[in-house]
Amino acid sequence: MKTKTIPGPKAMRVIGTMKKHAYDSTFMYSLVVSHGHNCIIEDIDGNKYLDFTSNIGACPLGYSHPDIIETLAQYASNGTYKIAGQDFYCQEHADLAENISTILPEGFKTFFINSGAEAVENAIKIAYKKMGPLPGISCTGAFHGRTLGALSFTFSRPVQKHNFPELPSKRIKFCIKDDDPEIDAAENILKENKAAFILTEVIQGEGGYNVASKKFISNLRKIATKYGVPLILDEVQSGIGHTGKWWAFEHYNIKPDIMSTAKALQVGATAFNKKFDPGQRSVLSSTWGGGNRIDMAVGSQVIDVIKRDKLLENATKMGCILKKGLLELVGKKGVTDVRGLGLMVGLEFDSALRRDKKLTELFKHGLLTLGAGQKSMRIIPPLIITKEQINEGLGIMHKVLMKT
Ligand SMILES: Cc1ncc(COP(=O)(O)O)c(C=O)c1O
Repeated sequence: MKTKTIPGPKAMRVIGTMKKHAYDSTFMYSLVVSHGHNCIIEDIDGNKYLDFTSNIGACPLGYSHPDIIETLAQYASNGTYKIAGQDFYCQEHADLAENISTILPEGFKTFFINSGAEAVENAIKIAYKKMGPLPGISCTGAFHGRTLGALSFTFSRPVQKHNFPELPSKRIKFCIKDDDPEIDAAENILKENKAAFILTEVIQGEGGYNVASKKFISNLRKIATKYGVPLILDEVQSGIGHTGKWWAFEHYNIKPDIMSTAKALQVGATAFNKKFDPGQRSVLSSTWGGGNRIDMAVGSQVIDVIKRDKLLENATKMGCILKKGLLELVGKKGVTDVRGLGLMVGLEFDSALRRDKKLTELFKHGLLTLGAGQKSMRIIPPLIITKEQINEGLGIMHKVLMKT
């Protein structure tokens, strides 16, 4: 895949401008995106990369997908592409609300917003509205976004929280094993205290692709019902198909009371059982939420294409091939574990240093991956990925990761 020097001269210029004028955020390596096709991203200097990130799940159909291009073309001459979406109605808002209802639990309603963090903010607001300003229960290693409300329940890395004020919270361990001694921690809290909600991911994204134990999630569901506390599931990263089901919670045969999603949907969404509907108008609102007509049209198309092209099945099949190939690396050269659901796969290293070095080397060999958690690598390719592309990526990983 490597065609020229990385980073090339154009990339160096963009990065130089960024370093001078923009906040230096979470950039890992020097990719300056120009355009993409299928599962390939091309940088500004013409270097091509196989994408094992789908932009953290936000591009489930890869790039320049013909159906998406067709949808986008409809807006080329429509200057009213963005409206005050909770003051004025538009067809795209109604279409996306109707379309997403076909994949949500029966009877759920949706509120659209800009980002994943805001989807979580509104999920917790819906819970507070019903329960009052009580503490919320969330998990170790959780990531729910960086706005101050969502951040109060994020615990994946200290740098995300230091010096920021917090909403009251109680933290429980995110259990990945059924026999974890802390599996009943939420019940122990609720026996003695009131809470506004229990909030968790089912497979932790930013926290390192940690898959919750079956018992942990079914316990949370039972306890939430027993104590009358809403269970909020955050599907911002895992939702819309990456685990091989529309929602990661479907692997656990339970349903949330309130949930958040974003990324693959192109817009943020808070979905809730009608019994948690705030009732009063204006409790929730935003200028662009429900008003970004292009993103909502694309989000709806994403759902249609996943259904039509059976991409959930593809995610399950390709995820199996990917995991099998990665398992061969475990126990060698500092690779310690592989885990995940469907096409959301995490690879654990013995140190953050090795993980970061390997991420950069993979990039230089034309494969895009990202870090997650303390020392894991996340692999979340577009849902359209083929067996040949998975094998090509695995080939690069074997070569790069097995080199000392
Ligand atoms: C599970 C989860 N919740 C919330 C968020 C925040 O989403 P955003 O970055 O769109 O605000 C993320 C982003 O990575 C996420 O993975």
